[in-house]
Amino acid sequence: ARPTITLSDGRRIPQVGLGVWQTPDDGAVEAVRAALAAGYRHVDTAAIYSNERGVGEGLRASGVPREDVFVTTKLWNDDQGYDQALRAFDASLGRLGLDYVDLYLIHWPAPRRDLYVDSWRALIRLREEGRARSIGVSNFTADHLRRIVAETGVPPVLNQIELHPRFQQGALRAAGAKLGVATESWSPLGQGRLLADPAITAIAAKHGRTPAQVIVRWHVESGLIVIPKSVNPARIAENFDVFGFALDADDRAAIAGLDDPDGRIGPDPTTATF
Ligand code: A2P
Repeated sequence: ARPTITLSDGRRIPQVGLGVWQTPDDGAVEAVRAALAAGYRHVDTAAIYSNERGVGEGLRASGVPREDVFVTTKLWNDDQGYDQALRAFDASLGRLGLDYVDLYLIHWPAPRRDLYVDSWRALIRLREEGRARSIGVSNFTADHLRRIVAETGVPPVLNQIELHPRFQQGALRAAGAKLGVATESWSPLGQGRLLADPAITAIAAKHGRTPAQVIVRWHVESGLIVIPKSVNPARIAENFDVFGFALDADDRAAIAGLDDPDGRIGPDPTTATF
């Protein structure tokens, strides 16, 4: 009943996952346990979040079998390069206490370092070894996507990017789709800033749902993979309880109207200095 997206490598990813950015190890243990108890089967972490240990601990404490949970982690910028990426991956697996991840992502293209193609070759090897079941990228522009495909012939299964009703990323989603690259939304709630938007609260009131549920539902209906972040068990459960209602054409039109080319909250990957 929980929707999945089939990736270009044939594997399936649960469409709604738990985000754990800015959640320390202790909080991550509890958030992951709460999420798995609420029905989530997908958790998204990263080496730079410094909570891979907590995520692994929460996973084991939940009693849910490892193979039933889709675990993503990410290569940090300082670890880019072929050999460095392989070492960083081993360190992530060690902290997670796992012998494979479901998805490994290059966290940022870091174009000034110009190591993302070498890093991508390392991820290709990790996938061949089966230690990363699927491989993808995060914060890549269309040019970055096209370059790794041109140089290696291997498209990433997905690109995880800032995406929310105020920054809908239509052009990048379309460019990814042309290459078979699915899109995953980070900061899907606009880091919480969209929850008081009048257009969103009106739709929520109409359906007897919360603003967060309306936004998560919008991502799901838009064919996106979505990883709302919360450390609060009630909000974690709320964000997953989005499969019993549907947006209508008026709702979708109102949300389309929130899109803003200047709506980005996080760093611009082409100019970020890290
Ligand atoms: P908290 O962790 O205290 O629940 P995003 O995923 O876009 O980055 O948004 C995350 C932010 O939104 C966090 O500050 C989180 O706070 C808050 N948040 C997440 N889910 C909900 C919810 N259902 N209701 C209210 N705030 C939420």
